[in-house]
Formats: sequence, C-alpha cells, structure tokens
Amino acid sequence: MSNYKVAFVTGAGRGMGEAIALELASNGMSIVVADINEDDAKKTVKAIEESGGKALAVHCDVTSLFDVTQAVEKVKNHYGKIDILVNNAGWDKVEPFLKSEPETWDKVIKINFLGPIHTCKAILPMMIEQKAGKIINIASDAGRVGSVGEAVYSGTKGGLIAFSKTIAREMARYNININCIAPGPTDTPLFAEMSNEGLKEALEKSIPFRRLAQAEDIAKAVAYFASNDADYVTGQTISVSGGLTMV
Ligand SMILES: NC(=O)c1ccc[n+]([C@@H]2O[C@H](COP(=O)([O-])OP(=O)(O)OC[C@H]3O[C@@H](n4cnc5c(N)ncnc54)[C@H](O)[C@@H]3O)[C@@H](O)[C@H]2O)c1
Repeated sequence: MSNYKVAFVTGAGRGMGEAIALELASNGMSIVVADINEDDAKKTVKAIEESGGKALAVHCDVTSLFDVTQAVEKVKNHYGKIDILVNNAGWDKVEPFLKSEPETWDKVIKINFLGPIHTCKAILPMMIEQKAGKIINIASDAGRVGSVGEAVYSGTKGGLIAFSKTIAREMARYNININCIAPGPTDTPLFAEMSNEGLKEALEKSIPFRRLAQAEDIAKAVAYFASNDADYVTGQTISVSGGLTMV
C-alpha cells in the first residue's frame, strides 16, 4: 500500500470544507474535493495545487446514494483508495420550528443526516478491506445543547453524533476511527447567509474568546482526528467553539 493518504472531503468547495481540504493537503494528503457545486470544487482544487498539493474535484450530491457511489468509483479509479472521510457538507435555514415547512425538514435531513450515512455506506467497505481508516463528521453543538431556530437541524446533528458512536463501535475491529467535531458559530458563507450583524455581535459577546471561529480553527481539529495521533480515539465529539459550549 502506498504511503500517501487520500482524504475525501464533502462540501469542500467553500467554507469549512475548503479550509479542511487545504489543511489536510498541507499535511501531505491527496484530497478529493467532493461538492454539489463543481465550479467551487474546482476553485478549491486550484488553490491546493497552487500551494503544491494534490487534489481531484468530483461532483457529489450527498443526498443521493447513487451519486455518492459514482463519485467513490471515480476516486477508486484515480487514487485507488480512501483513507480519510470528512463529512462536512451541511445546510440549514434558521426559523422558529412552527414556521418551518416539510420541504425544509426534508432538505435539512437529507443533506445533514442521510448525506453522511450515504458516504459511510459507500466508503466503509474500502476502509474495512484496508483495515484502516478515519472518519470525521462535522456535527454541531446544536446537536448537543439545542439552538433556537434550528430544531430539525439540531435533530440531524444529534442524530449524526449518535450514528457516529454506533459505527465507531462496529468499526473498531477493523481499525477504523469515527469521531465528530462540533463547531461553534463559524465565519463561513453559510453563517453569512443565515445571520446578521446584530447576531454576530451578540455571539461575539457571549463567546469566551470574544470572536467567531474561523474555518481554519475547525480544520486544525479535523487534522488531529485524521492523524495517527488520534489512533486510540474513537466515538468522541469535540467542541471547537471558543468556549461557547462546555459539554
Ligand atoms: N458555519 C457555522 O457556524 C457552523 C456551525 C456548526 C456546524 N456547521 C457545520 O459545518 C459544515 C460546513 O458548514 P459551512 O458553514 O462551511 O457551510 P457552507 O454553506 O459555507 O459550505 C457548505 C458546502 O457544502 C456544499 N453542499 C451543500 N449541499 C451539498 C450536497 N447535497 N452535496 C454535496 N455538497 C453539498 C456546498 O456547495 C458548500 O460548498 C456543515 O455541516 C454545517 O452544518 C457550521
């Protein structure tokens, strides 16, 4: 087996996923930039290549098992393996639960919960064969402590944490680690779309470190779980929230 590691990062076209892709590439990994937005995926690949790394853009809509399977086939043909899976793609719409509609619930559940289930179904068999692998799921503290205006989203992230613990138990015998990161409010395009200056200021006042997370803060924690330093850590969730939540 070759020495270099291949990391499949969903939603790596922008925001946190892009920062994760760049961080793992800077640690010598070859990156699969998997995103529903192909133009953004290609931009991330370009940025990685310009800094001397290796990356491949693949179209991947995580809500479709078929689409995910096709993307994984492309990676098998290109790199021959996947060592790290980062389930980062996510989406939310902030509104009071009773004002939210089934179309929104459906979209939130499909991207945030079914998405990681699809990628795990498609990629775990390769990791089992390799008898090695690491999966890092980007959850949220909304899934641990709740968050006003994010009821169904919180449910999907809590579900993702529970799903991760169970597959961590099932996969330990194959030397596969599954862990979660729970980011606090993070300065990404999604956050900009969902918030306003008032909310940002209010959050900055309540976060002990007095600032939002930058995508790079989250990427560093992912890099730890993806590294050999985390070989004996599985089924865990770590908050990267500037102390906003201490769970
Ligand atoms: N930004 C925050 O404050 C915050 C806080 C906690 C958790 N999170 C979680 O972090 C993750 C990344 O969020 P972000 O803020 O960087 O979001 P973002 O919207 O800035 O980026 C998300 C990326 O996912 C891609 N994507 C969306 N739907 C997809 C699909 N069906 N298939 C494949 N790719 C898809 C988008 O094209 C985009 O490139 C999400 O899981 C989110 O729930 C974010």
